Amino acid sequence: KVTAAITGVEGYVPEHVMTNEDLSKIVDTSDEWIRTRTGIRERRIMKDGPTSDMGAAAVKKLLEKKNIDPLDIDLVICGTVTPDYPFPSTANVISDKVGMKNAWSFDVIAACSGFIYGLTIGAQFIETGKHKKVLVIGVDKMTSILDYQDRTTCVIFGDGGGVALLEPNTEGLGIIDSIMHSDGAGRNYLLQPGGGSAAPASHDTVDQRLHYVKQEGKQVFKFAVTNMAEVSAQIMEKNNLTSDDVDWLVPHQANLRIIDATASRMGLPPEKVMVNIEKYGNTTAGTLPLCLWDWESRLKKGDNLILSAFGGGFTWGAIYLKW
Ligand code: ACO
Repeated sequence: KVTAAITGVEGYVPEHVMTNEDLSKIVDTSDEWIRTRTGIRERRIMKDGPTSDMGAAAVKKLLEKKNIDPLDIDLVICGTVTPDYPFPSTANVISDKVGMKNAWSFDVIAACSGFIYGLTIGAQFIETGKHKKVLVIGVDKMTSILDYQDRTTCVIFGDGGGVALLEPNTEGLGIIDSIMHSDGAGRNYLLQPGGGSAAPASHDTVDQRLHYVKQEGKQVFKFAVTNMAEVSAQIMEKNNLTSDDVDWLVPHQANLRIIDATASRMGLPPEKVMVNIEKYGNTTAGTLPLCLWDWESRLKKGDNLILSAFGGGFTWGAIYLKW
């Protein structure tokens, strides 16, 4: 049986660091509040350029590292909610910037679950034998849709992302299973209301600040804690994995308390949980590839990873992956 293995990862974060202290000069907040409620200490901010610049930078690094010709890439999937344009897709733009002329490409709008949705989709093309090299990108420039007058959202997000290469494997490595969910009723609690066909861009939508992220944090928190923990435990049970069998939890980095609740439900000690929220904040579709990038040197062939995410939509899910 052919499985889709992740044979390389790369990440990209902008250089500019914005600390909690910096934010406390813009909105009524404090380092203490942000750290204790979320676990975030600082985040990266992209001052110039669109989302595709970050995605293209990560892809270029990965192709160089793996010595792969851009023309050999078959498919490019980009998870993002901060595309360069409503259309064409950011995956189209990244493919152009990197010279992946033989690839077809499209975006996946699944907010913080964009990367696991993308991996699940990309794996299908590898498993069927249709494609040999699929790139799955998760990247967001959240600062492009943040309201720096709204302390409940602007403190949690940052910019960044990364990419994974999927290739066929016959040794049983790669994506073994995935469970994906969505519930569109979640749009009532987390969305960017303006700029789409529901509220086309106009002076009014700008005046009403509808082009920014709106979130009812408490409600989202409840759904996130319940569903991320549930789906992560579910994928372990379904694949007969005990907490001893799992080497790493790779959780979406939205809030340290959500990560802790998920790990605890899975019976995992903190040393098996990837956490880098303190330095990047929530980069939406970017968090999981950034974790894999940060931890790549510590991952061993055959390690059992559970990737798990929850985000706007609502969308959520988990992947069981053998490294
Ligand atoms: N600084 C200081 N005080 C603040 C801040 C801030 N930045 N933000 C809110 N507060 C205040 C509130 O006004 C409130 O004050 P009040 O009690 O006087 O009304 C108090 O702090 C508590 O606010 P809550 O919203 O209840 O705080 P909570 O503990 O829920 O934390 C948070 C807020 C961090 C947003 C949390 O709810 C959360 O993490 N939610 C889930 C986020 C998530 O997972 N999103 C999904 C992924 S994102 C995506 O898909 C794009």
